[in-house]
Amino acid sequence: MKVLVTGGAGYIGSHTCVLLLEAGHTVTVIDNLCNSSAIALARVQELAGRPLRFLQGDIRSRTDLSGAFEGGVDAVIHFAALKAVGESCDEPLRYFDTNIGGTIALMQAMETAGVSKLVFSSSATVYGQPDSVPVNEGAPLRVTNPYGRTKLVMEQLIQDWCAARPELSAVLLRYFNPVGAHPSGRIGEDPRGEPNNLMPCVAQVAVGHRSHLRVFGDDYATPDGTGIRDYLHVMDLAQAHLKALEYVGLHNGCEIFNLGAGHGHSVIELVRAFESASGRNIPMEIMKRRSGDVAELTADPSHANVRLGWSAERDLSMACADAWRWQKANPLGFTPDPE
Ligand SMILES: NC(=O)c1ccc[n+]([C@@H]2O[C@H](COP(=O)([O-])OP(=O)(O)OC[C@H]3O[C@@H](n4cnc5c(N)ncnc54)[C@H](O)[C@@H]3O)[C@@H](O)[C@H]2O)c1
Repeated sequence: MKVLVTGGAGYIGSHTCVLLLEAGHTVTVIDNLCNSSAIALARVQELAGRPLRFLQGDIRSRTDLSGAFEGGVDAVIHFAALKAVGESCDEPLRYFDTNIGGTIALMQAMETAGVSKLVFSSSATVYGQPDSVPVNEGAPLRVTNPYGRTKLVMEQLIQDWCAARPELSAVLLRYFNPVGAHPSGRIGEDPRGEPNNLMPCVAQVAVGHRSHLRVFGDDYATPDGTGIRDYLHVMDLAQAHLKALEYVGLHNGCEIFNLGAGHGHSVIELVRAFESASGRNIPMEIMKRRSGDVAELTADPSHANVRLGWSAERDLSMACADAWRWQKANPLGFTPDPE
């Protein structure tokens, strides 16, 4: 297939591009590099041993998008978005513009180009505080911040579009907590500034960029008192996108899938797993709970298991080992390789 990947230079997009190229797909990436590096894409091509087409452009620009669709596109995987919850509370309009405005512009460009297959990155954040865990796709949706609201609105816009155009096929993937890196250590998560997610913070303590890890709350109703999340290896997540591409090739309409391992780990369990993968000590400081954080959020991934034929295969210790290999070899993130 000819696949257009928005946000393909980012964390999840770059890992997915490696698998797309390895599977023989023709890949075009559009990314404005606002949260990523072109070095990631150079390494993607090196890992896959095949080229991709890269267009540095913005999904909100009709001109940039029409350039991306040149040469024909069979399906779109839409990763491009802003994703920091805290930042979305401070700058909601920027989030509405990029995430919602960008998605509308993309759907319009797809319609103009006659492209009918879409795989969309949503998030478990749409569940907010669930009534019970593990959550399935029918659980109530309760967003608690502007970032989550953009994901929910984007889901709804895509559903409305599919309802109006029976020839369309879309898959909405609700990711739980992506972690880890490509096993080569050549690509991985390279957050700019303060990381939003736990594992990059832990990795930065292990490599010596931070003195200790701040743990927000140890008085939750969980066995060790720290929050439990469903950690999913980024290579398993990338694999799910290949399954989703197959799925949109075979079905019309709009379908939602949770993507998670189906079980959770606490903050302390993740820290201990990272300590044993890295051989480094991770000092922790217990802080007060953060508002909006929930005690436990894990996926019921059985719909994806059955309908997509996908399940997570890699465990937390593998994710820690791969994330550590990436962090150790790239302590400053993506920097040019020595000549
Ligand atoms: N990483 C997570 O924990 C997580 C969890 C759930 C959902 N998601 C979603 O998955 C997707 C990918 O996440 P990620 O972790 O790879 O993030 P990321 O920031 O690494 O990747 C997003 C990419 O989109 C690009 N981008 C942003 N705005 C753009 C624009 N206007 N035009 C073109 N490119 C633009 C960025 O430069 C970046 O390369 C996002 O939609 C995110 O909301 C991520």
